[in-house]
Amino acid sequence: MINVRVPATSANMGAGFDSLGIAFNLYSRLEVEERQSGLEIITVNNTGPAHNDKYNLVYRAMSRVFDKTGYTPKGLYIRQKSEIPMTRGLGSSSACILGGMLAANILCGRKLDYREILGMAAAMEGHPDNVGPALYGGFCISADEGGRILVKSAKLTNGLKFAVMIPDFFVATRKSRSTLPERVPFRDAVQNISSALVFRDALIDGDFDMLRYGVTDRLHQPYRRNYIDGFDDIFKRTYEYGSKATYLSGSGPTIVSILTGGDGGGFKRRMERFFVENSHKWRCLILECDNVGSVVSVV
Ligand code: HSE
Repeated sequence: MINVRVPATSANMGAGFDSLGIAFNLYSRLEVEERQSGLEIITVNNTGPAHNDKYNLVYRAMSRVFDKTGYTPKGLYIRQKSEIPMTRGLGSSSACILGGMLAANILCGRKLDYREILGMAAAMEGHPDNVGPALYGGFCISADEGGRILVKSAKLTNGLKFAVMIPDFFVATRKSRSTLPERVPFRDAVQNISSALVFRDALIDGDFDMLRYGVTDRLHQPYRRNYIDGFDDIFKRTYEYGSKATYLSGSGPTIVSILTGGDGGGFKRRMERFFVENSHKWRCLILECDNVGSVVSVV
């Protein structure tokens, strides 16, 4: 049996649209086995609906590896148990794609190296900022250099907590990307460059008071904020309750606040109390950075 564990991820971290991301200690777990015939897919997620046939994302990702390596499994058993909420901006699809590809690579005799898997996963996902941290863990800078994916991962051991606030509605990444403009004002591009650089240094150096400047984004949040009821109020409240920096995770609708000191319990309670007044139900998880990334074992 092949076991794969892939962490949840938060992309667009700070002002790092399509480039900065982090892995969290919330996981998708896969069990995969080659069988004599047939396709059996079991999903025991309570995080959203999933196909149990050839349209299943894990299976589709595995098929890409089989096509590339010329391997034809006789039959397949796939079981997925995921804690990662689907279509909420926490890398659930990256976890499926990467998990499937890593498992398929074992079945076909490890024909692909991690760099190739990363490239295929980013191509299937459409952007590299979730698959980078999902594979390597930590806080990652990911870049797509014409199909070659570059990832620089830094392990975070600074005791930060991440308040991950997840509403009861979802936003499909493709739809949410279509709200973004083809062109942005020059000054907005400049703002994001300086913010993202400050964010990276502040996080690595432990200069946490600078993080708030580092989440000043002009590339996606101003366009995506409209589909989150109470967006500005939520952000304002997180800062009142002690957030060092708050940003929209991936394409949303999850919002992440970075917390220093303590276990985040007080922040969670106060935000949950505040969310009672919102038109949507929100829950708040206090997570940590996963510095390990994807783990594959064969038993
Ligand atoms: N960078 C991607 C986007 C992340 O903003 O569309 C999606 O999770």
